[in-house]
Amino acid sequence: MTTRFSCDPTEFAGRRVLVTGGTQGMGEAIVRRLAAGGATVATTARSPAESPVGLFIQADVSTREGTDAVIRDVLARLGGVDVLVNNVGGSSAPGGGVLALGDEDWQRALDTNLLAAVRLDRGLLPGMLKQGSGVIIHISSIQRRLPLYEATLAYAAAKAALTTYSKGLSKEVGPRGIRVNTVAPGFIETTAAQRLIARLADQAGTDAETARQGLIDTLGGIPIGRPGRPDEVAELVAFLASDRAASIHGSEYVIDGGTVPAV
Ligand SMILES: NC(=O)c1ccc[n+]([C@@H]2O[C@H](COP(=O)([O-])OP(=O)(O)OC[C@H]3O[C@@H](n4cnc5c(N)ncnc54)[C@H](OP(=O)(O)O)[C@@H]3O)[C@@H](O)[C@H]2O)c1
Repeated sequence: MTTRFSCDPTEFAGRRVLVTGGTQGMGEAIVRRLAAGGATVATTARSPAESPVGLFIQADVSTREGTDAVIRDVLARLGGVDVLVNNVGGSSAPGGGVLALGDEDWQRALDTNLLAAVRLDRGLLPGMLKQGSGVIIHISSIQRRLPLYEATLAYAAAKAALTTYSKGLSKEVGPRGIRVNTVAPGFIETTAAQRLIARLADQAGTDAETARQGLIDTLGGIPIGRPGRPDEVAELVAFLASDRAASIHGSEYVIDGGTVPAV
């Protein structure tokens, strides 16, 4: 199991972890990083996984049936979880501004980016409360503070709700031994993002570098000069999941190379 950073292979020994959406992108990097740290990892995706790391559950967590199935499987096979990383999220809404977004687009954004996490937390928290320990991490987005108004407004609003929910949850369960935090990535160059860059370059008849810069420009620039990498996000998640972050609770960690322009 390789990661770009060195890690203690025993740090998460004995910890049961669920990462939603762990077959691609940041989720995959998080799965690999936590497994490299010795955790027993379970993950989910809608499509079958070719060579999943750890326990794989095929389910659509944007539906109630999907989260119920994941909760059932995780409880049956792992007996519960010590770390829950709610990573699934994203937007498939059409372009065209706010008037192009119908009820279904809004509902899909809320189901995928807010309710999947709410339902999984609700199903797996009782076990954490019983054992008096656990870590929950919600993957939000800088768009919750820096909403792009075109196709992703419903996504941005759903991520804002996720961050607010995460803070409220932290207040309720912190006194009972559960730590809850949020990670808010900026532009992270996943393989899906690389495919998008290649497509944009193709459509515009330019190269990948120009297309990447075009995306960076829509965000108002990235002061470090490049998008983030999935394994950099995984490193932050691993830190927050570990005992090294024992007093970090109810916080949001932005990882965006400086994109958000204000304090
Ligand atoms: N990439 C960025 O620049 C960026 C920036 C800010 C925030 N984020 C947030 O970071 C998180 C991860 O994004 P990513 O870009 O790494 O995603 P990604 O590359 O598109 O990967 C998504 C993963 O989740 C799975 N998945 C998607 N929808 C699912 C569903 N409904 N049920 C179960 N599994 C599902 C996918 O597999 P299947 O397709 O097979 O289901 C895949 O394994 C998301 O919450 C996203 O909003 C991303």
